[in-house]
Order: sequence, then C-alpha cells, then structure tokens
Amino acid sequence: MIKTAFPDTFINELVARNDIVDVVSSYVRLGKKSGSNMFGLCPFHSEKTPSFSVSPDKQIYHCFGCGKGGGVISFIMEIENLSFPEAVAFLARRANMPLPEQENDRESKKRARMLALNRDAARFFYDQLSTPAGDKARAYMAGRGISKATATNFGLGCAPDEWSSLEKAMREKGYTDYELYDAGLIKKGKNGGYYDTFRNRLMFPVIDVRGNVIGFSGRLLDGEGPKYLNSPETLVFNKGSNLFALNLAKKSKSGYILLSEGNIDVVSLHQAGFDSAVASLGTSLTPEQARLISRYTSQVIIAYDNDGAGQKAAQRAIGILEKLDLKVKVLQMSGAKDPDEFIKLKGPEAFQMLIEGSENQVEYRLGQIAKKYDLSSDAQKVDYLKEAEDLLARLPNAAEREVYCRRVAADAGISADVLIGEVKARRSRLLKRTAAASRSSPEKQTQPVERQYRYSDPASAVAEEGVIRLLYLDPALIRRGGLPTKEAFSSPVLGHIYEVLCRRLREGLSVSADVLGGELESGEIALLVDLLQKPETLSNSAKALDDYINRIDRRRRETTEGDDLLQILEERRKELK
Ligand code: GTP
Ligand code: MN
Repeated sequence: MIKTAFPDTFINELVARNDIVDVVSSYVRLGKKSGSNMFGLCPFHSEKTPSFSVSPDKQIYHCFGCGKGGGVISFIMEIENLSFPEAVAFLARRANMPLPEQENDRESKKRARMLALNRDAARFFYDQLSTPAGDKARAYMAGRGISKATATNFGLGCAPDEWSSLEKAMREKGYTDYELYDAGLIKKGKNGGYYDTFRNRLMFPVIDVRGNVIGFSGRLLDGEGPKYLNSPETLVFNKGSNLFALNLAKKSKSGYILLSEGNIDVVSLHQAGFDSAVASLGTSLTPEQARLISRYTSQVIIAYDNDGAGQKAAQRAIGILEKLDLKVKVLQMSGAKDPDEFIKLKGPEAFQMLIEGSENQVEYRLGQIAKKYDLSSDAQKVDYLKEAEDLLARLPNAAEREVYCRRVAADAGISADVLIGEVKARRSRLLKRTAAASRSSPEKQTQPVERQYRYSDPASAVAEEGVIRLLYLDPALIRRGGLPTKEAFSSPVLGHIYEVLCRRLREGLSVSADVLGGELESGEIALLVDLLQKPETLSNSAKALDDYINRIDRRRRETTEGDDLLQILEERRKELK
C-alpha cells in the first residue's frame, strides 16, 4: 500500500525533534534502565510487570509481551489510533514544525495525473471497440459469450494490433512519453524508441474500490505472446493488494465474495448474475488481498480452476483467509474446468446449486484426502485413515472432531468408536509435542505475535529474517550479487518488508523504523523491530548473508519436493512395512 509520502529529510528531522523517551513518557511511566533500555508497563496490553522497553539509543520501542514495536511515529499511530500522515502531523505540531505541503502536493499531483492518464487510456481502449481496429476483439467477445452490456459494465476494451496507437492518442491529449512510461503503458525498445505495452489484446481495466483505474490486464486475442499481460507495479498499481472487479463486487448483496482465478471467469460470473465475483490479478491470493476482502464480507466462496494447480492454490487461499476469521467454502465443479465453462455447460442455476451445497473446508479437505486413495483396497484404506486421522486430530473443536470422525468412519467402513479413540490419542500426543516444542524450539519463538503474519515455514522464515536484519544493519550488502527475489521468501510479510528495504537501499535512501513507517503497515514495522532485536553477527556479514540465502533455497527445494503426492504415498508405504 502506498501512503502519502513525506521526504526522508523531513521525517528524519521530525524524529530527531521528538525524542522517543519524551514522547512515550507522556503515556507510560518509564522506570529505571536495564542495560541501555528503559522499561514500563505496556500501554497496548494489560500486564503487571513491565515488559515494554524503550531504547533511547535506537529511538525505538518494543514490547516483549505483546510484540508491538516501532519508532516514535508508529508509537503515536498506535496509541492515538492515527494513520501515518496523521501521526506525522501530530508530531509536527508537537515539535512546532510546519508540514511540507509542497512535497506532499507534488506527490499527490503525480498520482492524480497518472490516474487521469489511466482513465483516458481505458476510454481509448473502450472506444476502439466501435472502430474497425476493434473487430477482432468484438468477435472474440461474441465467441466467448460476453454481451455488450457486460463489456460496458466492466469497461472492457481493445488494444489495437499496432505499435503505438495508444501512445499517439495519449500524446494528443497532452500526456508525455515520460508519463506514459511511468504508468506502464509504453515500453522502451532496443533502439531507444517507445512502443505500446498492450497490443492486440482484450483489455480489462483494473479499478480500485474508490473507482480509480489503477492498471490494466490484457488478454491476448491471437498470435504469439503471453496469454495475459498486466500493468507493471506503478505509483498507483500494486497487483498483490488489489483484486479484479472488487469495485463491482463490493456492492453485491449476496453476502459473500466469490473468488475465482481468471478474469474471464469473473466476467462470465457477473453476466450470469453472480455479482460478487473477483479474481486476484494473476498471482495466488496474498494476505493483503484477503484483508481487503475481509472489509466487505465475512464469507468467501472459492471457485478456482478444477485442475491440480487450481486445487493447490485453493488450499493456500483457505489458509490465508482462515487467518482473518473469514468463513471459507470451496466449490467443486465436476465436469468443467472453470466457472466460465461450468456456467456455459450447465447454466447459472446449476452454479447456484453448487454454491448452496458447497462444502465447508473440513469436508473439502477430507474429500481431497479420500480422492488420493482407492478405498476398496485394505492397504490404501489404512493409508487414508492415517492421513484423515491427522487432519481430524488437529480440529480445534471437539464436536466438529466427533462429527467428522463419524463421517470418515462410515466412508471407510469401520466403527466410529475406534476412530474416535484413535483420534483422541493422536490429539493428546500432538498437544504434548507442541507444548514441548514451544518450550524448546527456537523456531516456535520466531513466530510473530500477530496471527495474520504467522510463518508457514518457520525454518525458512528464520533465514528470511536474517537476510532482512543483515541488510538493515549493513546496507552495503545491497551491492552483493545473488540476492533473492521477494518471491523466494516463504513469508509474504517478510517478502514485502524485504522488497521495500531493497528498493530504498538501491535508491540510496535511508532506512529506519520511522522512515519505513511511511511504506509499511504498523504490524509490519512491529515485526521488523522485533526481528532486529535478535542477535546477528556482523563481523563477516557477507558470509552470514550467503548462509541465510542458501538456507532459504534449501527449504524451498525441500518443501516443494515435500508436496509431491507420489513421495507422500511412498513414505506411507514405507511406514506400513
Ligand atoms: P481463459 O483461459 O481465456 O478462459 O482465461 P482465464 O481468464 O480463465 O485465464 P486462466 O484460467 O488461464 O488464468 C487465470 C488467471 O491467471 C488469468 O485471468 C490471469 O490473471 C492469470 N494469467 C494466466 N495466464 C497468464 C500469463 O501468461 N501471464 C500473466 N501475467 N498472468 C496470467
Ligand atoms: Mn480459466
């Protein structure tokens, strides 16, 4: 998320003039020092012994109890419940500093101008549909059953099969190449010239919940090239924190959001009356997207493609959505590869029935497990039961455990009491093991306090934290080759912190909890401050960095291999022998 940007120099000055000890002291009685830190009772959670620390040297605060932490700006955001710009204004008043209106204006003018350009570009693409240049796109939509009204509802358009039709049209409207380039609408060619990013494509404008055209997604009409092309990240467009069609879906009265994979699926669904369909923009669902969804609904119905990749993506999405306490259902469309095809083959009524009968996620997961085994073979039945038991034992709710035990037992043709007994034993073993692990394992302690940030792969996350810590503490490391991309990170939140950190370091900008507070969420800042508390060896930081990177690589290989169904089966086989 891009927040109002203040120049670093201003933020640094602001922080220097608002000593964190002074500021915190007007809310918290800070007691005597322990080491170089001062301690007090945490204002963010109730406690009897002080675990809230302030470091005058580092100008940060950190609570060892609840995990909150950050610089002076985050502190004000948290305690006064203000946004970043509001907290900056608050502290500026406190220190008698004028706000840098000028800079602020320039930034917001640039955004406004880019949004205007995007809107004009969308209008251009839309207008092409009624010219000969739009013949192919019109025929394509007709072929896929997309009506004129639907096209208008989504503002669909056509990028002509030419090198610079958009560029020419936008220049006539007074936009410069520089602006077009910044907005990702044109690209630089090898010989220095520019060419249109989107050519020969059906254009889907991406519109945010405020109604701004923030970017585009273009589907190839024919010929060579990637099937879909999205706008690159720009000042106003961030794929991972927006959803296609949420601008329409947020107005739906259905009470749920339908999450699908493809843009075409979304368009088809809306046309068939399912007006709460959205799609993530060609990525798997991100936590930011899930948070955005949770602002509009408490129930999500997943309608992903019916192939292996779609089902795997559904599993991941369930995990992300559940962390936000959203109710999740998964549709299983037999006989069709995606919602678009399903509706075309069986009609909207059949899809509605699918929604009403859609299984909850425990049933779905059990179904996924059952599919892997042939229940008419005794050996496979044992494997099935082992895997199902593991899932059942992890269900937090006792009634739920019993209900599903009975169902599984019936499916496998064994006595429910036997299975219930087994699951009970397995659960107590599991609980014992987790209790022991949380006492001894350092990995457990690395888990962030905020649930939404919980690491899916703590072993990798420890190394990911290390990479961030080293870059923060020794910024010269940014010039080393072989740095991973954020996609290599198993934790999306660490990936995001890493991305912001790298970008600032590459641009030669300063990094501190306060400056970063302008670009990171307060929870992310708390996580950053928390991971900075952990010890790090800086004597040979380059080697330490390489070690971390290798560990991330290794984990990634291990976990992807671990997903392999054949391997799981193979291991089960061995267990049996
Ligand atoms: P049809 O196959 O024409 O029905 O389109 P679809 O929208 O259903 O696409 P598909 O199921 O193949 O892919 C799902 C989504 O993944 C698309 O809507 C895109 O957002 C994204 N996607 C698919 N192919 C590409 C690609 O080549 N590049 C990028 N960046 N994204 C893609
Ligand atoms: Mn599809």
